[in-house]
Amino acid sequence: MQILTDAPLIAFNTFGLQARAAKLVVLESVNDLPAIPELVRNNPAFFPLGGGSNVLFAEDYQGLILQNALKGKVLTETEDAYHLRVMGGESWPQLVDWTLQEGLGGLENLALIPGTAGAAPIQNIGAYGLEFADRCEYVEYLDLTTGDIQQLNKEECQFGYRDSVFKQALQGKVLITAVGLYLPKPWQAVLAYAPLSQLPENNLTPQTVADCVKSARRSKLPDPKLLGNAGSFFKNPTLSQADFAEISRQYSNVPGYPTTEGQVKIAAAWLIDQAGWKGKKLGAAGVHHQQALVLVNHGQAKAEELLSLARQIRDDVKNKFGVTLTPEVRLIGQTGEISL
Ligand code: FAD
Ligand code: EPU
Repeated sequence: MQILTDAPLIAFNTFGLQARAAKLVVLESVNDLPAIPELVRNNPAFFPLGGGSNVLFAEDYQGLILQNALKGKVLTETEDAYHLRVMGGESWPQLVDWTLQEGLGGLENLALIPGTAGAAPIQNIGAYGLEFADRCEYVEYLDLTTGDIQQLNKEECQFGYRDSVFKQALQGKVLITAVGLYLPKPWQAVLAYAPLSQLPENNLTPQTVADCVKSARRSKLPDPKLLGNAGSFFKNPTLSQADFAEISRQYSNVPGYPTTEGQVKIAAAWLIDQAGWKGKKLGAAGVHHQQALVLVNHGQAKAEELLSLARQIRDDVKNKFGVTLTPEVRLIGQTGEISL
């Protein structure tokens, strides 16, 4: 295991920010896992990192960053499903493409979501009507206090919208080493969400669904290789029916989606767009011209410019609609997570 000091993080975050880490370890072998708890104890702070596609390094990090590069996957089959065991450092979008090449359906709605398999359970990645939780069999992690390897089943992961036990009770206490996925047989397309709902139902395959998802994503989400970003910067807020009705009275076209808990999820992109922010710039930080929920780095943006832009957007949306936006992107300060 190699420990790099004063390591540049530009290649480890999709915003392309210039932060550095006091120490950086790229974890490539499970043989190194027993040494990790002591390494964590001997450092002032610890941060597990995957592909850096949902983080904003606000400052140089003063502790240890442990980048998960554990690789490997195993496919097994039972009568009712395919089961995949995937190591945490595997690329999520490459995993989805691999399942499609193997003719396996079940993950196609989650095509092109950047990052690692090990980070997928953290915020329960979701898109086009499907969430990680829908395909999760188990999540395996290294307990950083005891050094034990533990497994949680889907219920124990307490998945919610962009939420899980790993953002709550287990936050900062574990390193996810592997995930178990369950792809039910026979394959059934999940088509409730536009534009998938417009697909003709005859002769559908996982690949045709994936192609539709990919083309929808490419039409609005910027490729981080070309324009630094971390996907949706804020979560879609959940409102009571009464609060949503109040906004709808003034703005009849506000997009809202009923939740299973009887509330309404409102489109943050629409709120930001209506507040006039789409395409705006603040220094080298900007709001994407095709998707107002995505903040972008137009070149040499500083973290503070992105944070300042995010604060102004949050405040404007609050003043105009009375709705509080909270970041989906994890904001990382010198020794841990910070708030906006
Ligand atoms: P990182 O950004 O490295 O880490 C994210 C968080 O997880 C951090 O708090 C980190 O500490 C923690 N973490 C990472 N790995 C581990 C581990 N092994 N153990 C413990 N903690 C860990 N998200 C969606 O849900 N849906 C989308 O449609 C979507 N679209 C996106 C589009 C673009 C263009 C981009 C840039 C991002 C998008 N995202 C989306 C966000 C992002 O892809 C997901 O959050 C992804 O799961 C992050 O993976 P990562 O490996 O890059 O995690
Ligand atoms: N809209 C606008 N202006 C815009 C963009 C969108 O008014 O600039 C409107 C759209 O017309 C639509 C609504 O806002 O009515 C929602 O837009 P979209 O379908 O693009 O989805 P989203 O709610 O902005 C969410 C996820 C995405 C995920 C897509 C597809 C969150 C925070 N974001 O975006 O996830 O890919 O749905 O399922 O839930 C991410 O988490 O990083 C991410 C990209």
